[in-house]
Amino acid sequence: MDKETLEIPKNTPQHVAIIMDGNGRWASARGLPRLAGHRAGTENLRTIIEAAVEFNIQYLTIYAFSTENWKRPEQEVKGLMRIFRNMLDRELKNLHENGVQLRHLGQLDPIDQDLQRRVKEAIELTKDNTRLILNVAFNYGGRDEILHAVKNIIKDSLAPEEIDADVFSQYLYTAESPDPDLIIRTSGELRCSNFLLWQGAYSEWYYAPAYWPDFDREELLKALVDYDQRDRRFGTISPQ
Ligand code: FPP
Repeated sequence: MDKETLEIPKNTPQHVAIIMDGNGRWASARGLPRLAGHRAGTENLRTIIEAAVEFNIQYLTIYAFSTENWKRPEQEVKGLMRIFRNMLDRELKNLHENGVQLRHLGQLDPIDQDLQRRVKEAIELTKDNTRLILNVAFNYGGRDEILHAVKNIIKDSLAPEEIDADVFSQYLYTAESPDPDLIIRTSGELRCSNFLLWQGAYSEWYYAPAYWPDFDREELLKALVDYDQRDRRFGTISPQ
């Protein structure tokens, strides 16, 4: 597709979710440590948040740290926690002034107390913003989310006949967000890696070869143009 000719489609997805993959390979290709890739990825987040607002996306969900990422070397895990904290320090004011509402998906409990407090404060500060809902999946896993929902349904003593897909969705971390229309994975990997297992049932997938730090506004626009050409059938058939 020719970059020059791309126009913003009229039918942009309401909710875009992104697996920001390839930070490590981006760094290795430059002879840099992996954390340099995560820092570059964080810088890129600003570009993509701005582009999401420009493209009238209402919900943006980013996979920042999975329940499995704890198994990475301690130095990388600590580095990612530090990057998250710094991002909140540096970007919160700007995000708030630009009408971005921050939400968290996942379990906060295992995270350092100070970072937990900062995340909660950021959520509280931005809770009335409506320009863009930014769901940050941090210590998030789709299986963990489903188990967490089941446990809470049991705790609430719901009867089987009271449980349907809508009720179940309300027990997920994403209770306040519609299902993603489009899920993007960067870096050319073709798998879902425990991301939005329930919510992604009818999402359109887009795989970009670019590593996350290189996935810029034009790359996002390409994904939106591609999405615009999809025929979403949700298990039914197109009108004949
Ligand atoms: C996947 O690349 C990326 C991650 C596990 C972390 C993503 C995190 C950021 C972009 C930091 C900013 C976000 C917040 C909100 C903290 P990888 O490390 O698996 O790359 P590789 O597959 O090339 O090794």
